Amino acid sequence: MKKINLTTKLNFKIICVVLLLMITVTVHNLWLSLQEENEKNALWLVSITDFLIQKKPEGSFSDIAANHGALQSTQQEIMTINHELQPVLQSVLVPSNIIKFGFYSLKHESIVAIGPHSDVSILLGIDGKPFKKVFYTDTEKFIERKNSLVWHGANTLIHVRPVTDRNGNIIGHAFAAINQDAVNAAMCKRTVNTLGAAVFMLLVCIVIFRELFNKLKKDMQLFAEGILHGCTSDFNSELAEFTPILKYISEQTEKMTRLDRLNIIGEMAAGIAHEVRNPMTTVRGLLQFMGNKQEFANQKEKFSLMIDEIDRANKIITEFLALAKNRAMNFSENNLNDIICDIYPLIQADALRNNSDIKISLGDIPLLFLDQDSIHQLIFNMVRNGLDAMPAGGLIHISTKQNEQQNVVLSIKDHGLGIPKEDIDKLGTPFFTTKDHGTGLGLAVCYRIVHRHAATLSITSELEEGTTFTIEFQSIL
Ligand SMILES: Nc1ncnc2c1ncn2[C@@H]1O[C@H](COP(=O)(O)OP(=O)(O)O)[C@@H](O)[C@H]1O
Ligand SMILES: [Mg+2]
Repeated sequence: MKKINLTTKLNFKIICVVLLLMITVTVHNLWLSLQEENEKNALWLVSITDFLIQKKPEGSFSDIAANHGALQSTQQEIMTINHELQPVLQSVLVPSNIIKFGFYSLKHESIVAIGPHSDVSILLGIDGKPFKKVFYTDTEKFIERKNSLVWHGANTLIHVRPVTDRNGNIIGHAFAAINQDAVNAAMCKRTVNTLGAAVFMLLVCIVIFRELFNKLKKDMQLFAEGILHGCTSDFNSELAEFTPILKYISEQTEKMTRLDRLNIIGEMAAGIAHEVRNPMTTVRGLLQFMGNKQEFANQKEKFSLMIDEIDRANKIITEFLALAKNRAMNFSENNLNDIICDIYPLIQADALRNNSDIKISLGDIPLLFLDQDSIHQLIFNMVRNGLDAMPAGGLIHISTKQNEQQNVVLSIKDHGLGIPKEDIDKLGTPFFTTKDHGTGLGLAVCYRIVHRHAATLSITSELEEGTTFTIEFQSIL
């Protein structure tokens, strides 16, 4: 797959694609808005001409002018009609200043009244012929005009409606004309403003994302260095949301490192342990035999010390062997409670030797796929550690239950010394021990068993209070 550089190449490509999208969407929106605006404006024009026809005083335009006595010229007559009709025109409430409306008289071949503000330059001094062409209609209709005279050369949409006298003869027209250029310009300005704001926001987002990516990159580099030096447990990302994720990765890495170490140890164990044990058994037998002889009676203590040491070596090898990587496991459906009951007499005997006690409380739990021997060993190792950590007379509590996730939880709690914080991370590392005669392999074996059961092991410990080992087995269902 092609690699992406988040802070450079991708930025450029994203900007281009997003800009293109934004422009396309904006142009499409502009087109739709213009359509809507035109439809709305057309309705305005229709209602204005309708209103003008209804409000126009009865009689022809000349009649309106005649009310003011005899007039000398046509222009004077037009000015008078305009003046007379202004009240009608001013009662039209137009929401914008881009609509002009008024009356055209066929007889005068000129616009005779114009609003909303009387525009004398249109009434006078303009050649009436082009108007005649525009208003040559006996039905109401829309006309699109380039170079409109009413709007001083702009593109215009005009609605014209014939005005009739009492006999039904057309004497002129009411008209309403909208300046399309102004409408379009207003819409374009609005759209350009919106697009500008969107581009600005896009740039701000890119700057923020760049900053975030750079921070993340820096964090990742520090984190990778932390992993190399094995000090990621307290890593805090500058981006607070990433801290839990990095913490999770760091935990998983630690687990993997631990398992890796275990695998190497396991392979070594499988190779040599068995071979070493055989000659040791022979030596132990001989020592025992010789120690019992009369001639060595005064050396008896030394012989028993040698035998003890060989026993200790044997114990190390036995635990070592338990770490062997591919020891076949015999998984079958088992009830964890039954396994605990099986091993109970053994661990109880072990506890009694320490004057300690073991209490078990077993909950109602489903069957699990377990290797019985491994679970024996797991419980035995943990109980042994608990007993080692407690003064005589202590109590170990073994319990099982099913949690909300339907998983089975086994916990082994002692009331011993507890484990210092700095040691918690080292638990499970082969040969890590704080005991004079410890092997440091018991917990490594436990981790291996837990791992092979796809379970999880967690430890909580308080100094001088005690330690709880919790193993969570996934339910079979
Ligand atoms: N229940 C416990 N209470 C206190 N410390 C413990 C407990 N379990 C394990 N530890 C610590 O973990 C170390 C490693 O344990 P383990 O792997 O069983 O080896 P060992 O028991 O031979 O020392 C112990 O030396 C001890 O310091
Ligand atoms: Mg141990």
